[in-house]
Amino acid sequence: MANNNAPANTNDRGSFGSNLGFLLSAVGSAVGLGNIWGFPFKMGKSGGFTFLLIYLLLAVFVGFIIMLGELALGRKTGFGPVNAYKAVSKRFKWVGWLAVIVPFLVMTFYSVLGGYCIYYIIINVIGLFGKMPGGMDSFVHMITTPWISIGVMLIFMVICWFINRNGVGGGIEKFNEIGMPALFVMLIIVIIRSLTMPNAIEGLKFMFVPGYAVKGGFIAEAPGVWTVLATATGQMFFSLSLAMGAMITYGSYLSKKESLPKNSVLIVIADTLVAILAGIAVIPAAVANGINNGVPVNEIALGGPKLLFVTLQDVFTGMGTIGAIFGIIFFVLVLIAAISSAISLVEAVSVTFIDRASAKGKEPSRVRTVTIVCAVISLVAILVAADGLGSNGFAPWQFFGKAAPSGFDWDADWLDFMDMLSEGVAMPLGALFMAIMIGWEIKPRFFEDEIKTGSNAGSGLMGFWGFCMKFIVPIAMVWVLIVQLNGFFGFGWF
Ligand code: PHE
Repeated sequence: MANNNAPANTNDRGSFGSNLGFLLSAVGSAVGLGNIWGFPFKMGKSGGFTFLLIYLLLAVFVGFIIMLGELALGRKTGFGPVNAYKAVSKRFKWVGWLAVIVPFLVMTFYSVLGGYCIYYIIINVIGLFGKMPGGMDSFVHMITTPWISIGVMLIFMVICWFINRNGVGGGIEKFNEIGMPALFVMLIIVIIRSLTMPNAIEGLKFMFVPGYAVKGGFIAEAPGVWTVLATATGQMFFSLSLAMGAMITYGSYLSKKESLPKNSVLIVIADTLVAILAGIAVIPAAVANGINNGVPVNEIALGGPKLLFVTLQDVFTGMGTIGAIFGIIFFVLVLIAAISSAISLVEAVSVTFIDRASAKGKEPSRVRTVTIVCAVISLVAILVAADGLGSNGFAPWQFFGKAAPSGFDWDADWLDFMDMLSEGVAMPLGALFMAIMIGWEIKPRFFEDEIKTGSNAGSGLMGFWGFCMKFIVPIAMVWVLIVQLNGFFGFGWF
């Protein structure tokens, strides 16, 4: 049994200045490439509407539950993930380390994708004054020219470094207070353009009419409902920034005056809303442009990095000079979303070392810690960037001079490999252990005070939260792990 007077951090390690600042930062962490890029294409691949429905249910019964758990764990202990787990659990102490390693691994490819956005802003700015670049040509040029990919990744990392070194209130909160409203306005502009394209309605049907993905000829066959469930769970976790230490960390910087349930609900709603809006901004435009140019619907590239960097760029290119302006708006929007998420990942890694120094009674050096963390991430990210999505001849197995064993589907490139390790395996494991720890080891009651502090949460909410934490979340996580293993090792169970 853990003791209910878990040692709480009393050191002054910075905090959010206001609840709005916290909320925008947490929403900033949640809203990222996962929403703007992952959500639309996973929705498409998984048969459109069914995916959306399952996603919404999961957001309520799993996403909200873990969100509240992470914020409560962070705020109660006043620590980042490593020390927070240590403070409350005997058996699951080590899980906190997962929440440091995972954001680190995610950053090694997130920074590369963030860099790609910077490159696309640059080429659209150039397009404004001359010829607009074609999507495919630009994409191939970028990924097969390592110095470009590495260069833009490093620019992305320097931006993150600069924000994080300025602290929680002075860096992270400030960026999000301006970045999030700006992102929302830009998203609306892009949606209006997307929906006014001829044939945009086909894209909308693809998203919202049950069965239309297959009926409309976009995909031959929708995956089974169990596979969709696993895809949606993985997507939901990633999109809500869960099981990566990020929300524990942000929770640890939140004032006791604020309501955790209210904030959790708002974060989940905002993130889901932006995911759906991003879908409406991206999919109808991509589909309409394809149809208008005579591309058969099943050949419109709606999946993978191509969706943004090829298909959508072609939409902008097709519009001529005005397209350059939309291209700039769109990629700045994606860049802001990527930065606001990346800084929460950098913070989740850094906070452990900051907490550690203060635990030893030393004055923690944020600048030094953030500098080292960003430098090490950049070093590993160089490999991912130079690999160029497997196009430059040193994908994981090739790198060791071996051919990939047959059946593996994650060996294609370093980006997939890092994603498989972090999002595919470590994330569901972390969430599973967290649910077992809260549900069965220390018991949901342990957090009752914390959840009630600053809120008017009653016993109904506590009961719902405890029940889901004990039963629903673990079952969902075990299911995700099974489906992931099946995919990675090509077992062919489903
Ligand atoms: N939620 C972010 C996205 O949707 C990614 C992220 C995951 C950020 C985990 C922080 C922690 O892209």
